Amino acid sequence: MPKHIILDSDPGIDDSLAILLALASPEIVLDGISTIHGNASTEQVTKNALSILELAKASHVPVFKGCDVPLVKDSLLGPETHGDTGLGYAKLPDPQTQPKIQHGSDYLIEQIMSRPGEVTLVALGPLTNVAIAIRKEPRIVQNVKEVFIMGGAIQHPGNTTALAEFNTYVDPHAAHVVFHSGMPMILTPLDVTYQCIFTKDDLNRLEKIDSPITKFISDSTRFYMEFHDEYQKIDGCVINDPMTLALTFMPEICDYQDLVVDVDISTGVGLGNTFADFYNYEKKPKNMKVAMGVRPRMFMELFLERMEGLCSKIR
Ligand code: RIB
Ligand code: CA
Repeated sequence: MPKHIILDSDPGIDDSLAILLALASPEIVLDGISTIHGNASTEQVTKNALSILELAKASHVPVFKGCDVPLVKDSLLGPETHGDTGLGYAKLPDPQTQPKIQHGSDYLIEQIMSRPGEVTLVALGPLTNVAIAIRKEPRIVQNVKEVFIMGGAIQHPGNTTALAEFNTYVDPHAAHVVFHSGMPMILTPLDVTYQCIFTKDDLNRLEKIDSPITKFISDSTRFYMEFHDEYQKIDGCVINDPMTLALTFMPEICDYQDLVVDVDISTGVGLGNTFADFYNYEKKPKNMKVAMGVRPRMFMELFLERMEGLCSKIR
């Protein structure tokens, strides 16, 4: 029985790869995408989501534009990481389809409340839409099947400040609402995603296939690799979002710990920092499962095989 998922996403290069992986994986059905500010403006990432779906001949998947700005902080986008369009050097035709009228956070509420226990939410960007949905309809906490979150850095340096990962730094207040909501959460932090580097050899394997999909992956990840080399001296690029998506149907890629996790919303240098109370000094209930160990090549082989399969499916 395939798992029904909704992506809340800021495509973004690695978000785009997660969308492609979702479409290439028979274990899941991509019911819809709600878009959120982050890697680029909500306007831009919404256009990107529509373009990616058209690229993969999946325009039947509805897209819902979400929040444009964080709950409290000023907007922070990621052009240095994902390029001005959010897709690096990739150039996709303007989408022929439009986003739906409904707001992204209302879409999350409607889907989760209408199908209790059936919707898996995969949050790949800042958590503004999810936080707004919780505040508007608190019962989604009990009705959502599970929530996979790409974000945070537990025992790993930040990728946006010394201490904070991008998604939790862009909207730390939204992350605080979600982390304290009681939702059944599985967190995929930088601790595991930074062990899953998409290398030039991995890209070369896909470039052997003549397909608009592989051209998109090549043009988008080339920009992403240049960022990782310049800013973090990494040979390749960290594809955080497809790794998070993969855990929805192949959890054995990672090892998990049930932890008490929180996010710093104070106004100091730690804003957006996520941390776990490993010894539970304050005797709080554990609020999420956290992926803290990973089998990198198990994930990368899955990703490469699924991209190869997708190319042959949409010749
Ligand atoms: O820190 C990495 C995360 O921030 C990824 O989801 C990336 O797409 C950006 O949203
Ligand atoms: Ca993302």
